Amino acid sequence: MDIIIYPKENLKGVFTVPGDKSISHRAVMFGSISDGRTNISGFLTGEDCLSTISCFKKMGIEIEVCGTDVVVHGKGLHGLSSPEGILDVGNSGTTIRLLTGLLCGQDFNCKLTGDNSIQKRPMERVAVPLREMGADISGIIKDNKLFAPVNVKGKKLKGISYAMNVASAQVKSAILLASLYADGQTEIIEPEPTRNHTEIMLNYLGADIKRDGNKIISSPVKELYAKEIHVPGDISSAAYFLVTGTICKNSEITINNVGVNPTRTGIISVLHEMGANISVENKRVVCGEPVADIHVKYSKLKGITIGGDIIPSLIDEIPVIAVAASLAEGKTVIKDAGELKVKESNRIKTIVCELKKLGADIEETEDGMVINGVNRLKGNVCESYGDHRIAMSIAVAALASQGETTIKGMECADISFPGFYDYIERL
Ligand code: S3P
Repeated sequence: MDIIIYPKENLKGVFTVPGDKSISHRAVMFGSISDGRTNISGFLTGEDCLSTISCFKKMGIEIEVCGTDVVVHGKGLHGLSSPEGILDVGNSGTTIRLLTGLLCGQDFNCKLTGDNSIQKRPMERVAVPLREMGADISGIIKDNKLFAPVNVKGKKLKGISYAMNVASAQVKSAILLASLYADGQTEIIEPEPTRNHTEIMLNYLGADIKRDGNKIISSPVKELYAKEIHVPGDISSAAYFLVTGTICKNSEITINNVGVNPTRTGIISVLHEMGANISVENKRVVCGEPVADIHVKYSKLKGITIGGDIIPSLIDEIPVIAVAASLAEGKTVIKDAGELKVKESNRIKTIVCELKKLGADIEETEDGMVINGVNRLKGNVCESYGDHRIAMSIAVAALASQGETTIKGMECADISFPGFYDYIERL
């Protein structure tokens, strides 16, 4: 689907965004291996999370979906059954990485695959620590590296101490899920803090996971127990409106009920440093996760340098931060973000290429990009590359560009933000 977007000022609105993608995936996965019925509210019905549901249904878990309310009839830590056929994760990196960790300690074998993008994304990063734990994982080997489809044979696992060489919550979560089935303690050392939704939710359901500095220690438990899970709005989806409200003249937007876990709020810190007028109000804790209402007003931005420890807390927001930086005064440098190359597309290449088409002064670097702010962007015909975050970032840029912008393949926004287009229209 192609969409055409025209520039707009005076955008006003108060709304909520769909549920957090990372938390929705985990609610279904962890609910499935908990004992009893998990009622989930605010679930993200984007394609990625629906892929997770379909994988668990194939493993014998009964799951009812009614709008954004989902009921998972969990069968406990040892209740999954051997799936019929291949588990298809669609476009979802979180599903394939976390499932690989969860499945390597079961008493059955299975095969996991996904779409073209998934088959190009690295699986070696999860296979290395899981094999150390005793896992049997094989698949497609290219340049000595593992790719999907992957075969996971159930094995007896043992706890390990593992220093991760990439700051990846997906790798950490895969190891933590395997640790639930391992003999002894498992320790994971993070190079930089990554999103901690797995630790929060597993502990909420009865796991024993502690943090000591940059080390996460998981001790075995006999069972997880089902509880209600309320999923907050996704800050990665709210990010598109935080930038829209900041760069479109005279705009004022409030997004209620957004997850503001500090491992995810790098976007707010960075926009504040750039001069944005954003306030975080009514902070509260829901099911262990910090939640708040966020208010944003149009403001002038200045360029800054973004790198180091903050990168994992805003990795998915870098494309839309690049949009803000394109219209900021002065130079923005984004570094230490090489992980962008192994997302749904090579996001360094794709966002640089599309923003250039809109007239941005932006250059690719080895681990990020350098952007010199310009006074105005101008409409053009842009590609989404089937990457939801690129499509939505370009849509935000289009609202602040002169003339008409066409975005090709906008339907991929449904992967993480069903109805994105309607939100833009309503604003
Ligand atoms: C996610 C972790 C991040 C993020 C992805 C979701 C998760 O990936 O980019 O969209 O839910 O754990 P990495 O852990 O590979 O950085």
